[in-house]
Amino acid sequence: MNNTSYMLAIILAAGEGKRMYSKKPKVLHEVCGKAMVEHVVDCAKEAGASDTVVVVGHGAKEVQDAIKGVKFALQKQQMGTGHAVMQAAQFITDRDVLVLYGDTPLLTPQTINKLYKAHKQGGYNATVLTADFENPYSYGRIIRDNNGKVAAIVEERDANSEQKQIKEVNSGIYLFDGSMLKEALKELKNDNDQGEYYLTDVIKIFNDKNLSVGAYKIENSGEIMGVNNRLQLSQAASIMKKRIIEGHLLNGVTITDVGNTYIDAGVKIERDVTILPGCLVKGTSYIEEDAVIGPHSTISDSHIGAGVHVENSVVLESRIGEGTTVGPFAYLRPGNVIGKHAKIGDFVEMKNSNFGDHSKASHLTYVGDGDVGNGVNLGCGVVFVNYDGKEKHRTKVMDNSFIGCNVNLVAPLVVGKNSYIAAGTTVTKDVPEANLAVGRIRQENKEGWVKRKGLLKEEE
Ligand code: UD1
Ligand code: CA
Repeated sequence: MNNTSYMLAIILAAGEGKRMYSKKPKVLHEVCGKAMVEHVVDCAKEAGASDTVVVVGHGAKEVQDAIKGVKFALQKQQMGTGHAVMQAAQFITDRDVLVLYGDTPLLTPQTINKLYKAHKQGGYNATVLTADFENPYSYGRIIRDNNGKVAAIVEERDANSEQKQIKEVNSGIYLFDGSMLKEALKELKNDNDQGEYYLTDVIKIFNDKNLSVGAYKIENSGEIMGVNNRLQLSQAASIMKKRIIEGHLLNGVTITDVGNTYIDAGVKIERDVTILPGCLVKGTSYIEEDAVIGPHSTISDSHIGAGVHVENSVVLESRIGEGTTVGPFAYLRPGNVIGKHAKIGDFVEMKNSNFGDHSKASHLTYVGDGDVGNGVNLGCGVVFVNYDGKEKHRTKVMDNSFIGCNVNLVAPLVVGKNSYIAAGTTVTKDVPEANLAVGRIRQENKEGWVKRKGLLKEEE
């Protein structure tokens, strides 16, 4: 019976969100690195919805561009929650329909599953997810009949003083029998003081048709919190943050200072990873076993191999192989693929480069658009001169080469394998395999020069 896989989810996300005071559509504001509406989409999918339709309107194009793997319905004018669902009518069949809002990022699939169960066990034609609120102001109130079924939902503005005392509120989340919902939508009117088509009136229509409407009341009312302004956005984020971190802790990740650790919703971390204080792990990052991150590091959309240590560094859109060390104070800009057991030391910047196994850049080096082989040593102060003022060029440094300190490698350039480059050389032409390249003025010592110039200090 508990088979949610034939469920259609309709997510209402056409509203403007005026109180956000933002250029961006409300549902695209992020909570722990993921747009609110994406949280809701993922939640519906995890709960087993086989299809998801997002009703877009305000900022439709932006919202459509931001979400993958769903269908869209356009609501040109925002004429109410019922009107929004009507726009998705073409997708409604005899499947169960789950209605959700795009601005409730804290909702969990477990709650949807419980709602579904209550819906089926009660044999209801519609089931409303409700909660008791200490302060129910502004929410629709649940009017129950003598049998505990839902007779109607009354909006705050339409409620009389007695109804306003009711603490049980409408979350705006419902399960409907699809074909019955489709029929009821046809009968919806906008004869209220806002001139809107209220989805809540569908409940009344169901009752008029003698269809049964149940309620499932949740304990953790925080889950249905809607975000209307940036204060609520930050409150939702801190609840989500705690949830994410607790999940990792219980999965075997050590996090030494939970108050000073930020991990986005899309991050995956294997067991026995340690996250030290002051770290941000963002986007779709993946961290493998036994890695140590931090203190004070940012990892964004990166793949960190097993046993890697990243210390006081920034790693963006890069892959780091097993056993490699990064930092302190390294800056890995997007596009690097770093091999195993390599060393990226202090004050090393790297971008759009490949860097082989066991290769080292221990200090003060810039590697831009480089292809560095295995077993290469870059001395202190090596610069990959990749930009000629107009275009970027690549530098290839082949296996087991040794690049001395303070060397400029002027791209495009190939340094053959097993070659050596003398410290201080500016390399402008290719270096063949196993050669030594020296490119600097030979040193001359001028005997007696200091004395002749009268610069010699008398010894005491
Ligand atoms: C709605 C419910 C109320 C419930 C509350 C819970 C109705 C009439 N009222 O009120 O009972 O307690 O949610 O938060 O349904 N939307 C559209 N198109 C529209 C209007 C709204 O897509 O034309 C979307 C909004 O973007 C938003 C959601 O629907 O995500 C809810 O709309 P909102 O106007 O906030 O409803 P409430 O007045 O809060
Ligand atoms: Ca609302």
